[in-house]
Amino acid sequence: MSILSGKARLAGVIGWPVGHSRSPRLHGYWIDRLGLDAAYLPLPVRPEDFADCVRALMRMGFAGANVTVPHKEAAFALCDIRDAAAEAIGAVNTLVFRDGKICGSNTDAFGFIENLRQSVPVLPRGPALVLGAGGAARAVIHALLEAGYTDLRIANRTRARAEDLCRAFAREGCFLAPLDWSQIGPALTDTALLVNTTSLGMNGQPPLEIDLTPLPTDALVTDIVYVPLETPLLAAARTRGNPVVDGLGMLLHQARPGFAAWFDQPGLPTVDEGLRRFVLG
Ligand code: ATR
Repeated sequence: MSILSGKARLAGVIGWPVGHSRSPRLHGYWIDRLGLDAAYLPLPVRPEDFADCVRALMRMGFAGANVTVPHKEAAFALCDIRDAAAEAIGAVNTLVFRDGKICGSNTDAFGFIENLRQSVPVLPRGPALVLGAGGAARAVIHALLEAGYTDLRIANRTRARAEDLCRAFAREGCFLAPLDWSQIGPALTDTALLVNTTSLGMNGQPPLEIDLTPLPTDALVTDIVYVPLETPLLAAARTRGNPVVDGLGMLLHQARPGFAAWFDQPGLPTVDEGLRRFVLG
C-alpha cells in the first residue's frame, strides 16, 4: 500500500463477514495504478451496527463505501437520497457521502450490462431467460429492461418469488413471465440470452444442472457466479459452441462509479485483463 497523506480520501466495503471480498484488491489496484492519495478498506460490520457505523464513517470523513451482503437492504433504508436503479432494485451497494447526506446507488445492474457490452460485439436480441429470483436477479432484470429487452422469463425454484419479481418490474410494452424450474427446458428453445443469478455452481454449492440441448447455439450464456470463473454451466455452454461471459466482469464494472465518485476522478476507471488477473490472484 502506498503511503497516505493526512488528506487521503477514504472508502471501503462494509459487509459481514467481509474477509472474502475482492473489492479492496480491486480498488487497491486502481488506486495504485493511478497513484492516488487514497485508501479502500475492508470494513467488517455486524448487521445490528450497520446504521451507526455508516453514520460514523460519514462523520469520520470517509467519502463513501460499498455495501455487500447482508447489508444492501439496510443501506437502502438508511439513505437520504437514492438513484433510480436503487429504487427499482430495492437495494443499495454504493454509498457516497455528500453535504452531510447519505446518497445511495445500485451499480450492480450497470456492472452486469457493462460486462456483457465489453465482452460481446453486440447484445443478443430476443427473449432472455433469468434463472433465480433473489437480489441478484433484481439487478439483472432491471439492467435487461433498461437495455431494451422486452421479453423476460424468470425461472425460480420457488415460483412465488418469480411471480413477485414479474409484478414488481412490470412495465408497459414488456412481457415478463414467471416459470417453474421444470419449465426451463421448453423455455430454452427460443432463448437469446441465458443468465444464471442463483448461487448454484459456486464453489461449495450444488451444481446448476440444466440440459442445454434445446438452447440455440448462438444464444449468449452468462453467470453471475465467478468462483469458479468457469462454472459448470459456462463450461457446458462453451463446449456446445455458445458464446459465454463469466461473472467476474460484473464485479469489476459495478465498482467503477463508486471509485470515480469517492476519489474524485474525471471518468470511470478501466477494466482490463491486468485487473482481471490481479483480482483473481
Ligand atoms: P441473492 O440475493 O444473492 O440473489 P438469494 O436472495 O438468497 O441470494 O437468492 C438465491 C437464488 O438462488 C434464489 O433464486 C434461490 O431460489 P429460491 O428462491 O427458491 O430459494 C436460488 N437457489 C438457491 N439454491 C437453489 C437450489 N438448490 N436450487 C434452485 N435454486 C436455488
